Amino acid sequence: MYQIGFPQKVYSGLGSIEKLPEIMDAEGVRRVLVMTDQGVYAQEAFRRVWDLLGSYETVCIHDIPPEPSVYDISRVYEKAKEAGTQAVVAVGGGSVMDMTKMIAACLTNEGYVEDVQDTARIQNPPAKTVMIPTTAGTGAEATPNAIFLFPEQNLKVGIVSDSFVASYVILDGKMTESLPARLTASTGIDALCHAVESYISILANPLSRLFSRAAVEKICANIERAWADGSDLEARQNMLEGAFLAGVCLTSSSTVAVHALSYPLGGKYHIPHGVSNAVLLAAVMKVNLPDCREAFTELAPLMLPDCGNLPKESWPEAVVAYMGDLCRRLGIPDSLKTFGIEPEALEELTDNAMEVKRLLLKNPRKLTREEISGIYEGLLR
Ligand SMILES: NC(=O)c1ccc[n+]([C@@H]2O[C@H](COP(=O)([O-])OP(=O)(O)OC[C@H]3O[C@@H](n4cnc5c(N)ncnc54)[C@H](O)[C@@H]3O)[C@@H](O)[C@H]2O)c1
Ligand SMILES: [Fe+2]
Repeated sequence: MYQIGFPQKVYSGLGSIEKLPEIMDAEGVRRVLVMTDQGVYAQEAFRRVWDLLGSYETVCIHDIPPEPSVYDISRVYEKAKEAGTQAVVAVGGGSVMDMTKMIAACLTNEGYVEDVQDTARIQNPPAKTVMIPTTAGTGAEATPNAIFLFPEQNLKVGIVSDSFVASYVILDGKMTESLPARLTASTGIDALCHAVESYISILANPLSRLFSRAAVEKICANIERAWADGSDLEARQNMLEGAFLAGVCLTSSSTVAVHALSYPLGGKYHIPHGVSNAVLLAAVMKVNLPDCREAFTELAPLMLPDCGNLPKESWPEAVVAYMGDLCRRLGIPDSLKTFGIEPEALEELTDNAMEVKRLLLKNPRKLTREEISGIYEGLLR
């Protein structure tokens, strides 16, 4: 038995942002809360959304911090409550969308804000959400996850509830046009991690694998185009769709060891989520390789259209090499030293990664402490 979740309605295509007022009217909404961050707030794309909501009673919270901590939730909730909102529109990347999911649930479930990890407290349907991603990365517009920093533990923690799946999603490539190349690369690799990890997870199933394959193909064919020329709107749109499809996989399957080893890097060293995943991707997949030969053979033609020229037995190695080469071509650092992490951090990083059991238990290979430590060690040289 398996299950897969999907937002209530998804609009996709260049110009699909124009559907926003129609959504509000269909839901009978007059009072709208728009959430964004300062980087996105400064963009023309945000103005477009704001203008489209011109005839509604609209309140904006535009200071959602990047990679928010669990302590940011109550501050944002207090502001949101004052707005007396009927629907919450997220315009931003994973940071804004995760906060939006959380706030939408808090607004209709008194007391939930006091212990957000206790998702059993979500008894009522959350306020309606509209997710408008401006990065082609996290797929948070589709996933049931909301990820927050828990500063005491130096760890990012994923809080998971079906209630977090968005009501509406608008995938308009124009909304990602202003994303700088560096972020296009790292957030795009995050999406690729979701697609590949959900494919090899022990929870993978025929439905999630359909979405994973489609996501891998779209992302691999478009990530370098979108990175090299941010105004290539066809590539932008395809990346957004690829990231969304990869997010859908996560309602059914799961991320695995790349994300597990990534959380301690975000938690203590505040390396952005996409970047830490990108640094880890090839190194983790190399260790996973013996348990992923069949899966990587299946993914090879989607990543490497010319792999037919290679003997089929070598496709799994070619897939791992491709992931490392792609990250290098996109200018992603291949060492944790770049972020000022010293070899002395090894023990603590390993301890913290071992705690991310929720994801490690779904990895196709039961990674030992030595293997996890070896991955970090290789990246600390
Ligand atoms: N919920 C999930 O399923 C899920 C999955 C993966 C990651 N995450 C979480 O999402 C967060 C990361 O999200 P992200 O990678 O999308 O980055 P982000 O939302 O933190 O944004 C990164 C930066 O990009 C800027 N930005 C975003 N869109 C822009 C645009 N169009 N033009 C110019 N600048 C723009 C933002 O202002 C910000 O400074 C992390 O907290 C991570 O843990 C969530
Ligand atoms: Fe991710």
